[in-house]
Amino acid sequence: MSIDHKERISVAAASPNMGSYEEAHASFDWSEVEKQFTWHETGKVNMAFEAIDRHLAEGRGQKTALLYSDPKRDESYTFEQLSLLSNRFSNVLRKLGLAKGERLFIFMPRSPELYVALLGSLKLGVVVGPLFEAFMETAVKDRLLDSTATAIVTTPALLPRIKRDELPDLKHVIVVSDEGVPEGTISYKDEMAAASEEAQIEWLDREDGLLIHYTSGSTGKPKGVFHVQNAMLQHYHTGRIVLDLKEDDVYWCTADPGWVTGTSYGIFAPWLNGATNVVRGGRFSPQDWYTTLQRYGVTVWYSAPTAFRMLMGAGDDSVAQYDLSSLRHVLSVGEPLNPEVVRWGLKVYGQRIHDTWWMTETGGQLICNYPSMEIKPGSMGRPIPGVEAAIIDDAGNELPPYRMGNLAVRTPWPSMMRKIWNNPAKYEEYFRIPGWYISGDSAYRDEDGYFWFQGRIDDVINTAGERVGPFEVESKLVEHPAVAEAGVIGKPDPMRGEIIKAFISLREGFEPSDELKADIARFVKEGLSAHASPREIEFKDKLPKTRSGKIMRRVLKAWELDLPTGDLSTIED
Ligand code: PRX
Repeated sequence: MSIDHKERISVAAASPNMGSYEEAHASFDWSEVEKQFTWHETGKVNMAFEAIDRHLAEGRGQKTALLYSDPKRDESYTFEQLSLLSNRFSNVLRKLGLAKGERLFIFMPRSPELYVALLGSLKLGVVVGPLFEAFMETAVKDRLLDSTATAIVTTPALLPRIKRDELPDLKHVIVVSDEGVPEGTISYKDEMAAASEEAQIEWLDREDGLLIHYTSGSTGKPKGVFHVQNAMLQHYHTGRIVLDLKEDDVYWCTADPGWVTGTSYGIFAPWLNGATNVVRGGRFSPQDWYTTLQRYGVTVWYSAPTAFRMLMGAGDDSVAQYDLSSLRHVLSVGEPLNPEVVRWGLKVYGQRIHDTWWMTETGGQLICNYPSMEIKPGSMGRPIPGVEAAIIDDAGNELPPYRMGNLAVRTPWPSMMRKIWNNPAKYEEYFRIPGWYISGDSAYRDEDGYFWFQGRIDDVINTAGERVGPFEVESKLVEHPAVAEAGVIGKPDPMRGEIIKAFISLREGFEPSDELKADIARFVKEGLSAHASPREIEFKDKLPKTRSGKIMRRVLKAWELDLPTGDLSTIED
């Protein structure tokens, strides 16, 4: 039995930033958090200023802000250096004529330049769309087209995936390279060298744009989740009470900025709190990660269940070779955190792994385990002070303990998305029950107010913590010459949470074969992205469809899991 509602991991002896959970809730007021920021006095604000430049005035200019390494580079930057570099980049954009509110995408692997470009864009009030480096042509095109982005920062290796002739709004392609850059593109290196270190910060309103993160739903193309400057309240607050960041912490968030965890908690929360931020490029390996923890003396570590499961799989001996005694606080996000992993973390790291729940749409953590709180392994924890969450039925009635229902959050909170780009109808769906944000997750709550995740209500797939929309994969699959129809589901997997499984019917003249399976998988990998490519493919003569022609993923899932197929009254035949 993996979940035991009675199991508790008690609080470690320490003095966390947030004392008693109950007291913090009772006395909480967002207006106290607001006092941290310039708008409290001026009415105006800028995320890049608050995260970086403010520290110069407060005596932290020479403090290390960024410790960057990958297999080829090893660098460190102070807050002052990041301030000056991002000033330069904002001048590069100003010279190109970019202005507040325009969309610029950053499409590159982790590197110091990624962080400089992001901060520099924000200084000018430009809205940044971070793109994961694994995205291929179609994925890149869909996102740039939808947001009518005018600029992109990228690398020579990724440049061929940007189809400029199909992107009429894209005017500026900035290429980060030590060598020369292709004709028709702008050299990051040359422009940075020529730009001034002094810059005019664009002072913004709290509701002005910050980021667009594209994420998947169960229907349609990815949605552009739009976040605003005001999110900094949540980032700062949760950085303090959930990450428990203190002045001398060395903090490592393992997420890429292409995902929301890599921006909210890989950039904003640590720097708003003045912490030293570790960024490790390159690929995952247990040896590499443990070396990174040891080498920098990481104190606070934020990662994901898939990574912890892989570390667990690498065996306890692999941990014993490293000195991880600097670690004092460990957190997880992105998928359900298995109780076994929590127990294992306690055994091998001597640390409680604190689960946190939130989503791209929520912009910041909402339901969490805190250093000051007992952990119940398998539970996501309790809402942060300033946030109210509940389990409600479809009519909006709150359900009693242990009854499963919609995980909902009382609106608003500071980092809540402000729109879905180009799609007001999609946005409204989240708020269809007055007063609540409907997450799309199902969960229950226990008598102590702890929340327990149960699953997604829609067909969204969570594979290794990455959200994949079945529709996006199906659309790519049917572009393959052999594929007539495709239905995609998430299949439970011990390491990745879920893997992508595709059911496919073939066009006339094509025969099922292993070669064809491999070719179809490769087609998705090369057209969309590796993480969206099906790991399993099954050929079927016919797929179950409604009379209106919609593929019934629910039936595919029931087939796969040997479950009853449920109501089939709308099926075609
Ligand atoms: O289903 C939930 C799952 O991931 C979804 C959000 O995915 P995304 O927008 O990509 O954001 C991930 C980073 C915040 C949620 O709807 N999820 C996230 N955290 C947890 C989780 N499921 C269970 N436990 C969690 N702690």
